[in-house]
Amino acid sequence: CGIVGYIGNKDTKEILLKGLEKLEYRGYDSAGIAVMNDEGVHVFKEKGRIADLRAIVDVDIAASMGIGHTRWATHGVPSKVNSHPHQSAEGRFTLVHNGVIENYDLLKREYLSDVPFASETDTEVIVQLMERFVSEGQEVLTAFQKTLDLLKGSYALALIDNENNETIYVAKNKSPLLIGLGEGFNVVASDAMAMIQVTNRYVEIMDKEVVIVKADQVLIQDRNGESIEREPYLAEIDATDIEKGTYPHYMLKEIDEQPLVMRKIIQTYQNEEGRLTIEPNIVNAVNDSDRIYIIAAGTSYHAGLVGKQFIETIAKKPVEVHIASEFVYNMPLLSAKPLFIFISQSGETADSRAVLVKVKELGYPALTITNVAGSTLSREADFTLLLHAGPEIAVASSKAYTAQLAVLAILAEVSAQSRNIPVEFELLREFGIIANAMEVLCDSKEIFEQIAREFLSVTPNCFFIGRGVDYFVGMEGALKLKEISYIQAEGFAGGELKHGTIALIEEGTPIIALATQESVNLSIRGNVKEVAARGANPCIISMKGLNMDEDSFVIPKVHEVLTPLISVIPLQLIAYYAALHRGCDVDKPRNLAKSVTVE
Ligand code: G6P
Repeated sequence: CGIVGYIGNKDTKEILLKGLEKLEYRGYDSAGIAVMNDEGVHVFKEKGRIADLRAIVDVDIAASMGIGHTRWATHGVPSKVNSHPHQSAEGRFTLVHNGVIENYDLLKREYLSDVPFASETDTEVIVQLMERFVSEGQEVLTAFQKTLDLLKGSYALALIDNENNETIYVAKNKSPLLIGLGEGFNVVASDAMAMIQVTNRYVEIMDKEVVIVKADQVLIQDRNGESIEREPYLAEIDATDIEKGTYPHYMLKEIDEQPLVMRKIIQTYQNEEGRLTIEPNIVNAVNDSDRIYIIAAGTSYHAGLVGKQFIETIAKKPVEVHIASEFVYNMPLLSAKPLFIFISQSGETADSRAVLVKVKELGYPALTITNVAGSTLSREADFTLLLHAGPEIAVASSKAYTAQLAVLAILAEVSAQSRNIPVEFELLREFGIIANAMEVLCDSKEIFEQIAREFLSVTPNCFFIGRGVDYFVGMEGALKLKEISYIQAEGFAGGELKHGTIALIEEGTPIIALATQESVNLSIRGNVKEVAARGANPCIISMKGLNMDEDSFVIPKVHEVLTPLISVIPLQLIAYYAALHRGCDVDKPRNLAKSVTVE
């Protein structure tokens, strides 16, 4: 979920709605705003997108403060009544919340058994507690602190009091939240991008702090009520980076940006002598470790699987790759000197953060590879490597994946060089070739649109097969396809299909096979024959030099170790067109959020 707040001299309603539009990547199943003026608090909420909310907000409503929320449902179905803001029974307090209150049921029973609850959410307990404590005679701030002390779980929240039109009460624990500073106004936002139109000066808030936000003042307090001074920083986001321009979808724009991102990475990670370079502390952390543990979720996990190949092949370090949400409770036996690498586009994924907290408790070093400077995972790890991919807005990740691969390859190569391990290729030169190959692929859209039409128009399912790194890229291709087109898709190791899944093959089942690795070229083609003999409709994507007549598409030749950087692009584009042909909402697929800030 994403939250915003505004207090000051501008058009509150419009700033909140614009802010929420920018936060839709964090969830978009329902949304709401509450604004306050001389007549009191006015709440507008609606199931669906911000556009649906916009349609019901009173166009003429003028107010000088307000809060807003876009939701990704956790407790309670997406509905108008479960959407935020939530109000206390007597209507004195109004609240927006991102996170999960684990002990809400207990608190409800212990303190609020006589209070009628309007929603099924965990959030409502917070606002009802506020009213309870204040009605018992406590000061609002004291009641706020007391309420926060009772909460177990994660929260970023903004609260307004019907009887005070000068203050927004703000607090966070685990979930991200920033205060933006303006002239005559101040804002609250889950991320700086939401409010970049009105200000680029932001102050971080730390867990368990309480912030009192007024139009001309921001007061941060620690949990003992002591004031804290904190310097603002300038958020470096170019507002035009987050516009779609002439593209019909962000996803297509972001797929097309991949050659540009490669060049930006080449430039940023190069020193004056024209060699790839990484901060020595980070290289030392890699070199000093006896095993690397990569932790990630979703697409970033798939990037981790390829990253393992890079680091083991190039830097000769053993690597394990783990899904964050599993690792947190099912930790493997660790080596003596582990280094943890967190891969996360957003740097906010709660599942990954939970592991990072644990790793820090254990005292192990952690490196975050992320697209967002200043994100939670970046701040809390010892080291950060940035992707420099520019904001990624489409929920389905594309350019962040290839940027993650590029940065992991650089890390592997720089570590190898620092230990005089010979590398069989010059990465910088190969990256140049890859950037050009990416361009060729982005220019071949018509072919991928045709492949999507031919193979995926009517099918209920699709399998991706490959061996070695092609298997991992196939997993990412399958994830892209299911995320945005809702076609049931899985990526399999070519040799494994016959051990079970081949039972699903029917007449016409599409099989997308990747053949970019010489050592397994013949065996993957053998697997294709096995499924074709059972009626499957194979689409082979091979690499130049390994291609055969039967192939549907041949990608340009790049070094075999690095093929995932380009072989994923056909799969991204095929998924894009398959979704488009099916009339799906490409940028905002159902049930998903770009950044999942709850565990
Ligand atoms: C969500 C998104 C995925 C993304 C995953 C990890 O589930 O829908 O597209 O890959 O989170 O996100 P991260 O920001 O940590 O890379």
